[in-house]
Amino acid sequence: MKRLISILLIIMMSVSLLAACGQEEEKETVSQEKAVQRVGVSMPSRTTQRWNQDGAYIVSELQASGMQADLQFADDDSDTQLRQIERMIEGGCSALIIAAVDGSALTEVLKKAQDKGIKVLAYDRMIMDSAAVSAYISFNSETVGKIQAESIRDALKLDTAGKTFTIELFGGSEKDMNSKALYDGAMEILQPYIEAGTLKVKSGEKAFADITTELWLEAVAKVRMRKLLKQYYDDSYPDAVLCPNDNIASAVAEALMEAGCNREHFPVITGQDANILSVQNLQRGYQSMTVFKDTRKLAKEAVSLLNADSTMQPAEMQQNGAAEVPCYYLEPVPVNVENYKEVLIDSGYYRGSQVNVYSDSPVKGNKIAYIINMAHSEIFDSCAAKSIEIAERLGMSCDTFFSDGDDEKFKKYITDCAKKGYNGLFLSHGGEDYSYEFLQKLCKAYPDLRIVTFDTQFKDASGKPQKIDGVTQFFQDDADLAEILLDYICTELAPEASPAKVLKVWVGDYTASFDRREIGYQKYEKLNKIQTVETVGPADYVNVTESMYQVMKETLKKYDEDDIDAIWVAYDAYAQGCYRAVMESGKNIPIVSADISNEDVECMKEANSVWKACACTDFKANGEMGVRILALELNGEYEHITDIKSGKPTDTIEIPASLITWENLPGEYEEIEDTAPDSYGAVSNFVTSSWLKEYIGY
Ligand code: BGC
Repeated sequence: MKRLISILLIIMMSVSLLAACGQEEEKETVSQEKAVQRVGVSMPSRTTQRWNQDGAYIVSELQASGMQADLQFADDDSDTQLRQIERMIEGGCSALIIAAVDGSALTEVLKKAQDKGIKVLAYDRMIMDSAAVSAYISFNSETVGKIQAESIRDALKLDTAGKTFTIELFGGSEKDMNSKALYDGAMEILQPYIEAGTLKVKSGEKAFADITTELWLEAVAKVRMRKLLKQYYDDSYPDAVLCPNDNIASAVAEALMEAGCNREHFPVITGQDANILSVQNLQRGYQSMTVFKDTRKLAKEAVSLLNADSTMQPAEMQQNGAAEVPCYYLEPVPVNVENYKEVLIDSGYYRGSQVNVYSDSPVKGNKIAYIINMAHSEIFDSCAAKSIEIAERLGMSCDTFFSDGDDEKFKKYITDCAKKGYNGLFLSHGGEDYSYEFLQKLCKAYPDLRIVTFDTQFKDASGKPQKIDGVTQFFQDDADLAEILLDYICTELAPEASPAKVLKVWVGDYTASFDRREIGYQKYEKLNKIQTVETVGPADYVNVTESMYQVMKETLKKYDEDDIDAIWVAYDAYAQGCYRAVMESGKNIPIVSADISNEDVECMKEANSVWKACACTDFKANGEMGVRILALELNGEYEHITDIKSGKPTDTIEIPASLITWENLPGEYEEIEDTAPDSYGAVSNFVTSSWLKEYIGY
């Protein structure tokens, strides 16, 4: 309860902030432009979570269409609401959006509105006996009542169970037109079972007048439930309680808990509004369902109706005693523990952290390993560190292993981890000549082991690309990495040259992602846009930077500045060595390279630096992506492993590359997100699901 109150307080604060912003803006806008409309928004009370949300959404919708809002809450008191509406009319509001406390008490005050030509919208609750009402927008409470009753019918299997179930009925405020409609909708479904004796209202209180709850108040519902339990149920509990909304559902649940009802015996309890507490109670087993009425949509459509730009059609005309009112209805959605994440979290209505009561992440306790067939380097270390961080956020542990390009060592790490009972492996840079066969055998031997690979191709003995069932592969878009650098050479560094003379820094017979870079490289050669002067690579694959420095120093002795338009480097750890050698040689030969690190950025920033561009993906993000994919695999959620561009489920993901040049270098490496927003900090690239969002935070 305390939690709910604090959540409500936060919502209330944001509402008043919004309203305050409205006032601030108002002063300014009024002086500039008199035509701006002011709309009175009269909500019944703050005690039900939804009205706070409705109020806030309506205000922001009005402001978004250039109008001002006068938002008031009536404390569930009809007289207060009358006075507030009166002041809105006198204060120059040109329209009113009203959710009435008492639907039959506004006749007089709305006459004044009508005289002034003020448009009145009945919001969620119908207003009776007033010709001023131009439209009614709601979710159709009769439908909501039916949905609630159907959920009781289905949960108790009333059609087939062949026994009698006990039920108690609760209604809303008798002054609210929705209450009777809800009751009618529910009884249309329940009445036949009551008549047939399948459902028994033990208290006998089943007429609408017997079951209403004054002003929808929780306290009133709780007192009544306590009384019913005491008078009619001894040590037992009803099998179902029809509750018209979530406030009443949680009050009823509390009375049951007080009476000692534990989760196993909890009745089927219905609700409405998807209140935070109720969504939590769905998970705890203290409520069976609620009906979600998207207040964002209701607010938006209400403002569209005012603006006369709505595309909705009236579903029916309702006689309110003074006029035929066109009624617009949105779709109510039944929500239970199975679909609440999809309906409420995936749609952005709530954040997982607001409503989830998991004590544990679904992959908690899993042990994973990041095994990379490369030596330590800044980018791979950042990838490993991020993998550990994300694994821990998800309740897993992650160990990291670097095999320094030694394939046998790489395979041994993998087999050892499998033997030791690791649940998942995130493998990076496996050789294409063995990865397919090796991992296929491993998966057979350890069918529960989950695997994701990065920059690792699967090819069979004849070189044909292959897949391994259940293993997701993800790659940097390597061909693109190569191409955007070559494009930069051709268009920016050597626009006159045709073809551009390129010194290629390659990786010997190394197989991995570099082969895919070769595709992009060869494309430029074939197009005759570039001509390769010579291909060089490190002599030592452990100390690659130092080795490349030595190799480049020797290579440069053979060439003059004019012989080479640019040095194209397949990997930045090599580029660091090349850079030192070129700078020391005093030759002005520009360097471009794939990947980026803090050190690269520092080199590129140096005075007269020859290092001009990097094509890269974010290796921290690659680490995060690997662990996210593995977590989804471990939880059997392959449907959430999706292609970045199409959003469709896939077993192969390509991470887009970005070009970072000396002209758009970030001030600090950490600010790289501003320079290459497609790769760095691009949260939308990540595979995700509601629980991943909850535990990782996005
Ligand atoms: C609304 C419900 C709400 C109830 C209590 C009804 O008119 O339709 O969504 O729970 O009022 O405020």
